[in-house]
Amino acid sequence: MEKAFILPPARKFRSEIIVGEKWTNLYKYLPDRDVVIITDENVYRLYHKGFPDFPVITIKPGEASKSIAAIEPIIKGLLKLKKDRSCFLIGIGGGVVCDITGFIASIYMRGIGFGFVSTTMLSQVDASVGGKNALNIDFYKNVIGTFTQPDFVICDPEMLMTLSDEEYLSGLAELIKMGFILDNTLVAKIERNREKIIRRDTRVIEPLIARSIKLKASVVSDDEKESGKRMILNFGHTFGHIIETFEKQKHGFAIAYGMKIAAGISVVNGLLSEKEEAKLNRILESFNIIHEIKLTASKFEEMLISDKKKKGDKISFILLESIGRAVIKEFTFKELVKLYKSVQDRL
Ligand SMILES: NC(=O)c1ccc[n+]([C@@H]2O[C@H](COP(=O)([O-])OP(=O)(O)OC[C@H]3O[C@@H](n4cnc5c(N)ncnc54)[C@H](O)[C@@H]3O)[C@@H](O)[C@H]2O)c1
Repeated sequence: MEKAFILPPARKFRSEIIVGEKWTNLYKYLPDRDVVIITDENVYRLYHKGFPDFPVITIKPGEASKSIAAIEPIIKGLLKLKKDRSCFLIGIGGGVVCDITGFIASIYMRGIGFGFVSTTMLSQVDASVGGKNALNIDFYKNVIGTFTQPDFVICDPEMLMTLSDEEYLSGLAELIKMGFILDNTLVAKIERNREKIIRRDTRVIEPLIARSIKLKASVVSDDEKESGKRMILNFGHTFGHIIETFEKQKHGFAIAYGMKIAAGISVVNGLLSEKEEAKLNRILESFNIIHEIKLTASKFEEMLISDKKKKGDKISFILLESIGRAVIKEFTFKELVKLYKSVQDRL
């Protein structure tokens, strides 16, 4: 079992992420308060027998639950259960459950405590770590939300065994991303252990998940609200979010394609070598997470305006200088679309 902590500067509160803990030990981490569990129907079906004995609110699985309309019944459910500010929420699920639980906990009665049992690869390495939570409005992903850290996150890799191949591989893209932006050694380990990772050998994936979380925790501790370095975590996300929305691809697959585009743009900008770009593409393809897209440059242009990293007509875009070293550069929308067009033939 390994632990990581998020301690943003100027905060006394420490958020703890425990990797390798059995999720059934959740009761050890719960505060001595009223607890309500939020989960989705699939996770409930698979795991409810191990849930501690508290009221459970179950949502429909999937992205559509991340809307204002879908969270109103959950809030009404908490009111019906007569829960006040002393209530503590536990989200048991993937990124959707974690985002919703964190969002509701940050606004219910102006803020209550919460924790997660993170049940997908994507949520273990990314969504449940870092204190971001958000809902979507129409096509615009994650446009309303807060930065609020959970008290704790339990990541039990055994829970990944019940994920579909698609969900597992999609989550893996975020783990690979952490290596690309921050840690060449992590990339080497991922490349070396490809088969065992695909087989979900927990002895191999647990330390990789722990490493990825420690990298993210250290970035978030320095820049909780994404005013600087935290932006590097968005590598692949500028184009990835648009692909996710319009091609209806799984988050990780869309981000993987976004990383491919960003690596191409890094080469065109004279930062990344063609050899390293080829290595990045080879790794992504070896995990079968690159899926073709049909989106046009003009659709990208239209949607870039909703990017949360934009300031005026400029966007902070994440490039690679080398594998394991990301840099932030500002481009205007027009420059970015032009750059996209210039790399289309290498995708
Ligand atoms: N807040 C953040 O920092 C952050 C970061 C990355 C992604 N996200 C968000 O996370 C969401 C995607 O998360 P996700 O990929 O975990 O999706 P998800 O929560 O929808 O889970 C994917 C599917 O797997 C099922 N599932 C969950 N755990 C399971 C298990 N152990 N076994 C079998 N099935 C299981 C779910 O019911 C669902 O059908 C997106 O909304 C994305 O925007 C948030």
